[in-house]
Amino acid sequence: MELLKRPRRLRTNPLIRTMTRETRMDASSLIYPMFVKDGNGIKEEIPSMENQYRYSVDMLPKALYEAADAGVKSVMLFGIPDSKDECGSGAYAEDGIVQRALRIAKRECPDMYLITDVCMCEYTSHGHCGILKGDTVDNDATLPYLANIALSHVAAGADMVAPSDMMDGRINEIRTLLDKNGYIDTPIMSYAVKYSSAFYGPFREAAGSAPAFGDRKSYQMDYHNRKEALKEALLDVEEGADIIMVKPALSYLDIIREVANEITLPVAAYSVSGEYAMIKAAANCGYIDEDSIVCESATSIYRAGSNILITYYAKELAKFIKDGR
Ligand code: PBG
Ligand code: ZN
Repeated sequence: MELLKRPRRLRTNPLIRTMTRETRMDASSLIYPMFVKDGNGIKEEIPSMENQYRYSVDMLPKALYEAADAGVKSVMLFGIPDSKDECGSGAYAEDGIVQRALRIAKRECPDMYLITDVCMCEYTSHGHCGILKGDTVDNDATLPYLANIALSHVAAGADMVAPSDMMDGRINEIRTLLDKNGYIDTPIMSYAVKYSSAFYGPFREAAGSAPAFGDRKSYQMDYHNRKEALKEALLDVEEGADIIMVKPALSYLDIIREVANEITLPVAAYSVSGEYAMIKAAANCGYIDEDSIVCESATSIYRAGSNILITYYAKELAKFIKDGR
């Protein structure tokens, strides 16, 4: 038989391979998560997340310049407060850690697009993502708190808010309060499809946000479920979310594809702390080539249908993209 069709034709050299690529990455779609904490002159490495740091507010601008130099256009801020209480009041305080970080970041690095994680777990003494009633998180009692947190972030300079608590109805609650206060143009990126996952381990160490008792299974999703992802995504679309996030990313590529096929909003994926830590650890052992693995896994997330990637490797990826990798 004569071989007329030869897929290898389009693989013969780097130029034709790049020309016919189906998936392209762009640094403008990367979001870099960063941790800010109380104190002065602090830049401390997070033990379980090599090369990721907690910064005091005064040290943040320099870190933002470094990210900008690498080609990163957007960051997502997480706050680590010095003190916590039952209702996480530090999360919506005018002089809270994220609010102060936002003001400095806006002033010193006005071109950086500032997104904030909206949640209570870093600020509550019990470490849960909402207000407790007995041993469970009270959904409806938590909603006004979340809306207030989001509003205080936006008032302090956040360009976008990203609620990660997984309460029902919070997108509607946040949208309504932002609009009432005139912030009609501030987008909400919803952690709509957020699974209860062991991949968050290093983050919880970094942010000191592990629950003091129990787990998050009564509000975050069960990883056995796929249709539920569509239910969650569609609810948040209806409630007025602007971007739908799937989290984690690498073990959830099927979910990213599913959601991307069903909705018309941009899809974001969060490649979480545990994914970062696994790659780092294996690379440190010499078992894998870190740069290649980072490019390959990021590409797989875009190929699955994500338009936006939140990753601790954002600076490295932005450089790889610039170098045409
Ligand atoms: C807060 C929050 C978490 C992450 C993002 N926002 C932790 C959690 O839900 O326990 C995880 C991020 C990561 O692991 O990199 N709710
Ligand atoms: Zn939380």
